[in-house]
Amino acid sequence: MSASLETPRLRLRRLVPADEADLIALDSDPDVMRHVGSPAGVKSPEETAERVKRRVLDSRRGDHGGLGFWRVEGRADAAFHGLGALIRMPDADDVEVAYRLARSAWGRGIATEAAGALVNHALGALALPRVVAVTYPDNVASQRVLYKLGFERRGLTEYKGVQATWHVLTREAWRARA
Ligand SMILES: CC(C)(COP(=O)(O)OP(=O)(O)OC[C@H]1O[C@@H](n2cnc3c(N)ncnc32)[C@H](O)[C@@H]1OP(=O)(O)O)[C@@H](O)C(=O)NCCC(=O)NCCS
Repeated sequence: MSASLETPRLRLRRLVPADEADLIALDSDPDVMRHVGSPAGVKSPEETAERVKRRVLDSRRGDHGGLGFWRVEGRADAAFHGLGALIRMPDADDVEVAYRLARSAWGRGIATEAAGALVNHALGALALPRVVAVTYPDNVASQRVLYKLGFERRGLTEYKGVQATWHVLTREAWRARA
């Protein structure tokens, strides 16, 4: 299991049971969940709590190997900013980068910094050939994050039954930007 990932402002670390309250609050905010999930939106309180507990348990067991979920927090104050993930795509060998931040963290470049750390981990330490991402077509802020990280937009794809934009960052393109 990989250690924490650090950026100038952030630490991304594996989930622990003490994170559950922050993670449940994050996934219970309709503004955060508007473009998250398939279908998108807040799930029932029971399902939200169950999903959070499963992610924490998987993190503790190291079930995802070098992939999985990270808490995104301030490096100086450990303030909770959100959740980042590297997840295997459902029907392929590809690995997806995903992120969602608490509203208090929006608009400061934190998603780009956090997702950048996950991409560096995936393409560097894990030596994956590429990382992919999907967004709802009207989630322009998330598409902008991917653009800033060097992802190439390759049209639309079907993801877990919904239409999504499809973004790819190859190891070669990532290296060329370094
Ligand atoms: C989408 C999200 C991750 C962005 O986080 P963030 O930390 O604010 O993102 P950043 O500041 O790194 O970058 C956002 C970019 O989008 C731009 N942006 C924000 N809202 C926008 C909008 N409605 N239309 C167009 N651009 C927008 C910002 O100006 C910024 O671009 P810039 O740096 O060129 O100015 C955050 O709002 C979030 O967690 N939303 C809810 C969950 C979610 O949608 N997750 C992604 C699922 S694919």
